[in-house]
Amino acid sequence: MQSVHGGRKVAARRDHVTADLPSRARLSESSRSRFDARRHIMAFFTHHVCRGLSSSAVRNVAIKHLTVIGGGQMGAGIAQVAASTGHSVTLVDTNGEILKKAVKGIEGNLKRVAKKKFSDKPESGEEFIQKALQNVSTSTDAAAVVQGSDLVVEAIVENLKVKQDIFSGLDKLAPAHTIFASNTSSLSITDIASSTSRLDRFAGLHFFNPVPVMKLVEVIGTSATSQETLDCLLNFSKVLGKTPVSCKDTPGFIVNRLLLPYIIEAIRMYERGHGSKEDIDIAMKLGCGYPMGPLELADYVGLDTMKFIMDYWSAANPENPSFAQSESLNKLVAEGKFGKKTGEGFYKYK
Ligand code: CAA
Repeated sequence: MQSVHGGRKVAARRDHVTADLPSRARLSESSRSRFDARRHIMAFFTHHVCRGLSSSAVRNVAIKHLTVIGGGQMGAGIAQVAASTGHSVTLVDTNGEILKKAVKGIEGNLKRVAKKKFSDKPESGEEFIQKALQNVSTSTDAAAVVQGSDLVVEAIVENLKVKQDIFSGLDKLAPAHTIFASNTSSLSITDIASSTSRLDRFAGLHFFNPVPVMKLVEVIGTSATSQETLDCLLNFSKVLGKTPVSCKDTPGFIVNRLLLPYIIEAIRMYERGHGSKEDIDIAMKLGCGYPMGPLELADYVGLDTMKFIMDYWSAANPENPSFAQSESLNKLVAEGKFGKKTGEGFYKYK
């Protein structure tokens, strides 16, 4: 395994997982099944080698083992998806109880996936669940497990200082080739990365909730992230079965920069009495084909998270009306009504 450091002059790139395979359509039936088996093995059994051509040399790094920091909904979801695509994952949280809950949640979600994927073969479903669970271990000590990691993905509270402290500590312990990535929804990747000495191997890797279901991953590069690192993360996302998009390190990247002002405007419409919350949600579901209405989605994302992001952005851009404060959001958060996770937000949940 080699380092992914290097320049940005990438003359030619290819998807290393499948680039050497012939077109499937031209193969006979038996060759096709060998082709599929080979592709499956390549994707799922860690022959995922990320390649980039720098001006001086070809550099490879294989993501076989990852450490996920944060046992909340996002961290557990990332761990689940990585484990079920054949990666070995250590899920880290300082709280052992959170880790227990996370593993239980992963097991439950794997059952949902298996039920759908192996509806006519329950024994294959059980095998899938057990294999994925075997790939997950937990730890309360990131420093003790990071030495074996090719990738560290952080999915903890949206607090710049806390994220910087974690990465700064791990930077001294992780191998040189290890890529660091933050799943932050709103903070600057450049700011988080500045606490480390591996700026070329630092990027954003932003997943969406629920991670096992949502197909998108935003891969965010700073001005210092190397092309090899970005290529590696783009390919890794594909191996996870996701569709990655490349983003600049701008507030909210692509999705949240559009989604949050939309949700906040819906909340303001509700405050102004333009429609009931139910009608606003129904309107966007049936009028635009969205799976959830904006207020329902705010509850799902978490009103505390929404408020944190809006406060952070409005402090940085006080003149931007899209980021202005919302009275009802502030009130609900002050009352501890964070949405679905606390049982009440704009709506009540059993
Ligand atoms: N793990 C595995 N599978 C899951 C799951 C999970 N955690 N949650 C749901 N599913 C599966 C279900 O098993 C079900 O599968 P089938 O259709 O095969 O039966 C499917 O997803 C649909 O689930 P449900 O029937 O329970 O419920 P639903 O149809 O109402 O869908 C939903 C739920 C997938 C969450 C859907 O409402 C949806 O897509 N909502 C929008 C979510 C969204 O916009 N997420 C982005 C939030 S923004 C964000 O995350 C970024 C940020 O930084 C703030």
